[in-house]
Amino acid sequence: MVMWVFGYGSLIWRAGFHYDERVVGFTKGYRRVFYQGSTDHRGTPEFPGRTVTLEPAEGEICWGVAYKILKKEDKEAALKYLEVREKQYDKKEYIDFYTDPNATSPAVSGVLVYIATPDKKSNVNYLGPASVEDIARQIVQAEGPAGPNRDYVFNLEKALLQIECKDEHVTDLANEVRRILAEER
Ligand code: SIN
Repeated sequence: MVMWVFGYGSLIWRAGFHYDERVVGFTKGYRRVFYQGSTDHRGTPEFPGRTVTLEPAEGEICWGVAYKILKKEDKEAALKYLEVREKQYDKKEYIDFYTDPNATSPAVSGVLVYIATPDKKSNVNYLGPASVEDIARQIVQAEGPAGPNRDYVFNLEKALLQIECKDEHVTDLANEVRRILAEER
């Protein structure tokens, strides 16, 4: 069976595993939010960074990319890799993936996605909502083994631009991060 993986954060600009096809599209009923704390990639346990997760949101959609993986050994390798990389995301969900905003039926069903839920028992790093300014200030200061948290925001902004997707939450945050950095200079 073919395996599909949906990326809505860093997976958009860096898959990190072998795939056969990359398709731009969206999932319904979710929005992208910077509510997940990162202590292993873009922050530390002492100073967590923030990365995106999907929050259920009726009537909304979230754009990203879906990766198609065909070979058994590639599927196994991708899953093994993602289980480590996405280990702070406590839920594996299987979603419907759409490519056409006017379509009523999905282009692909059963697409694997990693979600960080607000459940503090299974997700101790969850941070939740805060003002754009507070989120930006936290991001400006955070840095982890994968690099500065600000680069995650800028890479995501660029990757979304490349797939021609507008996401105000990301743009507003990137602008606020730039404003704070300019203020600090
Ligand atoms: C994803 O990219 O789909 C998950 C969130 C992340 O790793 O940034």
